[in-house]
Amino acid sequence: MLSPEQQQQYARDGFLVLPGFKRADEIAALRQRAAEIVNDFDPASSRAIFTTREQAKHTDDYFLRSDNTIRCFFEEEAFGPDGELCQAKALSINKIGHAMHDLDPVFSAFSHGPELAALATDVGLAVPQLWQSMYIFKQPGIGGEVRWHQDATYFETTPISVTTFWFALEDANRDNGCLWVEPGGHRSPLRERFVRMGDEIRVEKLSDLPWPGDATAVPLEARAGDLVVFHGLLPHYSAPNRSPVSRHAFTLHVTDGRTAYSPLNWIQRDASFPVRGFL
Ligand code: FE2
Repeated sequence: MLSPEQQQQYARDGFLVLPGFKRADEIAALRQRAAEIVNDFDPASSRAIFTTREQAKHTDDYFLRSDNTIRCFFEEEAFGPDGELCQAKALSINKIGHAMHDLDPVFSAFSHGPELAALATDVGLAVPQLWQSMYIFKQPGIGGEVRWHQDATYFETTPISVTTFWFALEDANRDNGCLWVEPGGHRSPLRERFVRMGDEIRVEKLSDLPWPGDATAVPLEARAGDLVVFHGLLPHYSAPNRSPVSRHAFTLHVTDGRTAYSPLNWIQRDASFPVRGFL
């Protein structure tokens, strides 16, 4: 599926943009299903927000129990000082996570198939294992920043294999909080490890290497339907969305089953709910 040039580019930069990977009707179906999940979500059932600041402190039972289920999380700025939502519920949700790819038929259809399987092979995932899915809304006006990180922080394997499949469901640009990456940064060491011990979360610092700055970071502007695939060590972030338009995206985090998956990763599966590949 990838040309030799694309494979070289991926090896050199740690990421690749594949324009028009998903059709408009596939995107429409996923967006529709996400809207239904949000519509069915009772905001009185949880006030849980999602933030990438002080993650160990903000991680709660609601988050930990979303590992192998489907749950909605609010934007950090969704609630006013009175504790009420500042805008409509549908414009207040940060993300849906984290097992729609296995539990929801519409999400499952979007997340599997021969094209994705072929791409996985080409980026070195001989035995792809899909651990996590996230529908990210990046809401207009209040879409939260996602600070610099590497996805291998959350999905450690030996050797490191996690690869992110990031699907643009709407056009993403500098105004509405597109991804920023450091080309070649996948050759830098893992800086942090997100560790789960039962119901305890710890973020361990592994390296003092600073995060990329303005000189090396590049924006990855994408059109709806584009797929960005990137290496688990590639530093990336996205700015808050202060624009009037949302920036929906869908992500899959995939490791290689030939590697050793850390028992301290926050998402674990067992025989009752086995991890699956793209087919
Ligand atoms: Fe990430």
